[in-house]
Amino acid sequence: MRAKTAVILGAQWGDEGKGKIVDVLSGGFSAVARYAGGHNAGHTVIIGDQKFVLQLIPCGVLRPGCKAIIGNGVVLDPIAFLREVDKLAALGIEVDGQLFVSNRAQVILPYHRMIELAAESAPGRQKIGTTSRGIGPAYEDKMARSGLRVVDLLNEKILKTHIENACQEKNAIAHALFGSAPIDPAKMFDEYAAAAERVRPLVADTGRMLYELIDAGGSVMFEGAQGTMLDIDHGTYPFVTSSSATAGGAATGTGVGPTAIGTVIGVTKAYVTRVGEGPFPTEIHDASAESLRSRGNEFGAVTGRPRRCGWLDIPMLRYSNQVNGTEWLVVTKMDVLDELDEIPVCIGYKIDGKMTDSVPADVRGLESIEPQYTRLKGWRESTEGIADFDRLPKAAQEYLRFQERESQARIGMVSTGPERDQTMILPEFAEELKRMAAGPKAV
Ligand code: IMP
Repeated sequence: MRAKTAVILGAQWGDEGKGKIVDVLSGGFSAVARYAGGHNAGHTVIIGDQKFVLQLIPCGVLRPGCKAIIGNGVVLDPIAFLREVDKLAALGIEVDGQLFVSNRAQVILPYHRMIELAAESAPGRQKIGTTSRGIGPAYEDKMARSGLRVVDLLNEKILKTHIENACQEKNAIAHALFGSAPIDPAKMFDEYAAAAERVRPLVADTGRMLYELIDAGGSVMFEGAQGTMLDIDHGTYPFVTSSSATAGGAATGTGVGPTAIGTVIGVTKAYVTRVGEGPFPTEIHDASAESLRSRGNEFGAVTGRPRRCGWLDIPMLRYSNQVNGTEWLVVTKMDVLDELDEIPVCIGYKIDGKMTDSVPADVRGLESIEPQYTRLKGWRESTEGIADFDRLPKAAQEYLRFQERESQARIGMVSTGPERDQTMILPEFAEELKRMAAGPKAV
């Protein structure tokens, strides 16, 4: 029997609106577990007249009775984390007994940010346009086996020695390469030892917790951060983030086996956006980009940067469905297209004069793509808030069916506005959700 679990992830370059979708779906789940990234992510959730921007804490925390778990695959900045906990408390949301941090997660320390900021602007370095949160250097230390894990953050002796040794090394590197001013290890230790005491009650062996929950028939949602095309292996390398944003990351990033993953849900906008540098084959530069940006409010939730906008890219969506094993698609921001007469959709690529529908591995190939478009009819009426597929204009139904057919994954859900109830759930997907949520709520 399939486990009552689902991975929910971004099918594009992040910002697909996963926050709202996880929030809507988590109502029936026992736990939501984040498996990758750090506070570079920004999930905006709107409930009534309250707006929450969650960066590290899984959206499940907004659902009473749903455990919110930060998995071992995440890089945790304790200061940013506690700031988020305090913000939630100020809004009346207490996290004790509901929020758990993996003892195996890696810790982001101030020198990670220092090195990233210096490296991003250093001559001869490829500028990635990162979120400047120290994510990449923290994962570098993890892979180099010189990182600090949460379990060690909690041990004063280990923390002190780690900070002293690491500062000596990082200060020397940053000074030699980038002329950076040194970081004071004593000050850092005081700040992080104090933060550790506040994090301590939330730390747990979350891999075991998830195993026991799933074993007892509980339902778990694995919440991805960023998106498939930002994945360290499968994305548009080197213009990617430093973690496994794709479905495989859910197993390694939370400590459950791949057989504990029941299904994969990919979230895609009805068009495409990207922030930061890097190739984007269907990017548009004319007035339509401005219109998508303002109608879709396409500005970064974390950095406020305007997002680059473009048309739906079917070969890329098919690639995403392939690397993730996506069974269900959730289409967001459908209403942003409401005013268009016709909607271009990329159905293939021309590279060096040759037609292909494969996504090239190299950046040069990606940059030289000439997207081949078909034009679908627009509907020119409001779809905002429609929660029933049959009530959508015929052309909007056709747009969705086209996307489904061409990308080879079933559409389970469509979002037509930022509120929880501006969402349609298609009948087959509703059945799947019922199957998953039919376990004990919490163990
Ligand atoms: P980093 O994750 O800060 O290292 O940034 C690497 C790339 O990923 C940059 O292009 C960022 O703009 C992008 N990125 C990181 N997090 C997000 C996200 O949550 N949404 C969209 N793009 C992101």
